[in-house]
Amino acid sequence: METSIQKTKRTAIGRWVDRIQLYSTAQLFSVLIAVTMGLKTRQRMSHNNGIGAKGTFTFDLDPDIPPHHFLEHGKQVSCQVRHGMATFYDDAMSAIRSLSLKLSDQPFASPFDMNLNTGSISLFWNAASFLKLAKMRRQKWGIEYQDYYKKYPIGKAGAISTLRRNPTSFANLTYYAKTPFNFVGKDGVQRYAKYRAIPYDPQVEESGMIPERDKLEPENQRIIPGETRSRNYLKKELAERLKDQTVKYWFQIQIRKAEANDSESIFNCCIDWDEKEFPWMNMGVIELNEIMDWDSSNVIGFSVTNLPKGLDFIKAKSIYDYNSLNYMRSKMGIARKARLLGYKLFGKPVEIPENDNRNSSTIV
Ligand code: HEM
Repeated sequence: METSIQKTKRTAIGRWVDRIQLYSTAQLFSVLIAVTMGLKTRQRMSHNNGIGAKGTFTFDLDPDIPPHHFLEHGKQVSCQVRHGMATFYDDAMSAIRSLSLKLSDQPFASPFDMNLNTGSISLFWNAASFLKLAKMRRQKWGIEYQDYYKKYPIGKAGAISTLRRNPTSFANLTYYAKTPFNFVGKDGVQRYAKYRAIPYDPQVEESGMIPERDKLEPENQRIIPGETRSRNYLKKELAERLKDQTVKYWFQIQIRKAEANDSESIFNCCIDWDEKEFPWMNMGVIELNEIMDWDSSNVIGFSVTNLPKGLDFIKAKSIYDYNSLNYMRSKMGIARKARLLGYKLFGKPVEIPENDNRNSSTIV
């Protein structure tokens, strides 16, 4: 599948110009987010509405996963998960839900972080389309991206895949990292990997799949008229659940060997890898046992730069390269630092109040 914001075949000078454009775009964007969101409003670029939980990660490796120094069968480490939603402060809206995993008990330092969202494909496929999405957002009271979806049907398909309306729990959703990463193990062979997290119990049915009405109009993320669920119902459900049980997920990996004739499209996060050819394999079990408070959940941060050697993100050549998404993310450290500085200078963000400010992307 070729996408309309896509360029191929460049001369040597053209490739050089592409790299400079990618570098400067990422730098400029990170400064823009650091100033306008991190410092000014003390917010993340997205997924501000969320709650953390602590627990353990136990490596339970499928024997078909090629050996890698970081992957030690049976090893147990502390982990943290932040469950969030993009981008509104109202759990009852139709929205992307997330599971971000950190294999450490620190707010940032970690040998392995992974951000995952619901749905297997994304609303954008490279830095250029990501920036188009940001530019064309035009959010007003819970309706957004209408022009973007009209112009880019692939983005609309991504929205339909990723949006969830009124799931009964974070614990019964399935989350995908979508973009591929390197997998170079002990044998030195170049492979690529995708990650996902699924409920530990395979019988659990995913809740919150969007109904036909939302598929026709994914831009309308507003709560259903007469909605009785509160702005915080989903975060509260997780806190209640963790009072008397643990929440468990399988963390899984899909691996493919690099081939000389690979098409660039294997890196496109709007195209799934064939599950029969590249089956999902268990990598370990996430077991959450303790909810985190609002402040600690806000302080925690994740990055694609927190990955072991050989499992890092794939290099990108231009803003049209599918791998430019992870390159852009790798440059966002300054936005996280600006947000933490904002907390110090102006105070930590208040909790989302249970009021009638519904369909809201502001906290009040
Ligand atoms: C398909 C690709 C992507 C996925 C799956 C993804 C997923 C996520 C998730 C799950 C979070 C929430 C993290 C949390 O709970 O703290 C997040 C936050 C964030 N994402 Fe993305 N994202 C993607 C692409 C991008 C891109 C292209 C950028 C561009 C720079 C970006 C920048 C950010 C930033 C700045 C945050 C907030 C980080 C913080 O302040 O701690 N993401 N993303």
